[in-house]
Amino acid sequence: MIELTGITKIYNENRPNRVEAVRGVDLTLADRALTVLRGPSGSGKTTLLTLIGCLARPTSGRVRLDGEIVSALPERFLTEVRRRTFGFVFQKFNLIRGLTALDNVMLPAFPLGLPHARLRTRALELLDHFGILERAGLPVENLSGGEAQRVAIARALINDPAVIVADEPTANLDGARVEQFLAIAAELKARGKTVIVTSHDPRITEAAIVDRLVGMADGRIVGDGS
Ligand SMILES: Nc1ncnc2c1ncn2[C@@H]1O[C@H](COP(=O)(O)OP(=O)(O)O)[C@@H](O)[C@H]1O
Ligand SMILES: [Mg+2]
Repeated sequence: MIELTGITKIYNENRPNRVEAVRGVDLTLADRALTVLRGPSGSGKTTLLTLIGCLARPTSGRVRLDGEIVSALPERFLTEVRRRTFGFVFQKFNLIRGLTALDNVMLPAFPLGLPHARLRTRALELLDHFGILERAGLPVENLSGGEAQRVAIARALINDPAVIVADEPTANLDGARVEQFLAIAAELKARGKTVIVTSHDPRITEAAIVDRLVGMADGRIVGDGS
């Protein structure tokens, strides 16, 4: 379970370009559910997602993971928690150009120091599972949008995280790709994963598999329903 209490995030504090991106959010996210954070551009969705995923620390407030306060952990431990717990699918996927699909998938696992052969096998299994095994050796810039999406999801799963966090995963994707994303999200949920997605895409926010829709506006939660 992920619990946020009194979370704020201020960028550029004490500077003229100060932005209060998240303003006092309390949110408890149940395990094994698919939650969508919905809101217009600039409402704080990405910022909140980075706080949930321990990619950044709140300016104030607490993030608890299964009861443990993680927002106050020293960087080294926070990195460890992040690696163990979360898989990330970024907006535009953030794949590393020049590297193959296989290398991109393996990358987040390198710091864990697993045997290379085992890691490679697992990455190939994931690519196979998502139907892109034959693309494993291609540089990622040669992949289609739908293939890049699946590589990004495979990469998010390489460390077998309990929580998958995806930031506007269907921006710039056509209908078939959106269906593909929803099918994968449903499968992850069926496997007991917690999935947290930001989106203002009605194809996602209105999908039947969504368990909970949390509305955001101006850094605050403005609606919360199932
Ligand atoms: N790294 C940053 N530095 C300064 N301001 C930022 C940064 N990231 C986001 N913001 C600002 O914070 C607010 C919320 O942004 P964001 O969390 O990206 O919202 P959303 O994902 O809903 O579009 C916006 O006003 C945005 O300009
Ligand atoms: Mg965003």
